[in-house]
Amino acid sequence: MYSIAIDGPAGSGKSTLARALADKLNISYIDTGAMYRALAYKAFKNNLDLCDFSNLENFLKGTHIDYKDGKIYLDKEDVSDKIRSQGISKKASVLSKNQKVRDYLVNIQREISKRRSVVMEGRDIGTVVLPNADLKIFLTASIDIRTRRRYDQLKEKDKSVDFEKLKRDIMSRDENDIKRKNSPLKKAEDAFEFDNSNMNLEESINYILDLLRGKNVI
Ligand code: DC
Repeated sequence: MYSIAIDGPAGSGKSTLARALADKLNISYIDTGAMYRALAYKAFKNNLDLCDFSNLENFLKGTHIDYKDGKIYLDKEDVSDKIRSQGISKKASVLSKNQKVRDYLVNIQREISKRRSVVMEGRDIGTVVLPNADLKIFLTASIDIRTRRRYDQLKEKDKSVDFEKLKRDIMSRDENDIKRKNSPLKKAEDAFEFDNSNMNLEESINYILDLLRGKNVI
């Protein structure tokens, strides 16, 4: 069994790359951002104030999160599509500052990786969740490329999405994720950093496969 950690800012291409890599290697793909989003979605549906979460422990105790075959389940319901809005992105970024929320999800993420080989992507996988991952990648891309990727994704569902506003939202989310006290987004010391702004998916995958072969992981 082995694990690959992929971290990086919003829109850096982590999900596309991690999913394609997991397919190629025939191992599990785990999107940890979807877990933060699912909790934010539930909190939002229940009108909970994310900054004043006095019942957080009860909320977490009464919540069941699972990730299977590329789908996120919240209390047994598949919420994979419902969590992909800009509103939920912002709420997830706020909620993810909370250490109790992080402990709760990190525990689930580690349990999953004990049972199978994984490509796990997020913000703190190489630094906190899987410090002993067999390969760590820190993926970046320019802000304009990242915004363009998110814009193209969102545009399919919402014709009113505005490029400049989206860019500001992404920059503000990056700032939240990088500056937060608990498990901020940062490159693990032993991670390979690469900018995929000018690389296509196949080139990125081949780059990672070479790293895996070089480390005798595959
Ligand atoms: O990767 P994403 O955009 O779906 O993540 C949504 C938010 O969740 C992101 O703004 C920060 C948070 N997150 C986190 O704090 N730690 C992770 N491992 C994954 C996501």
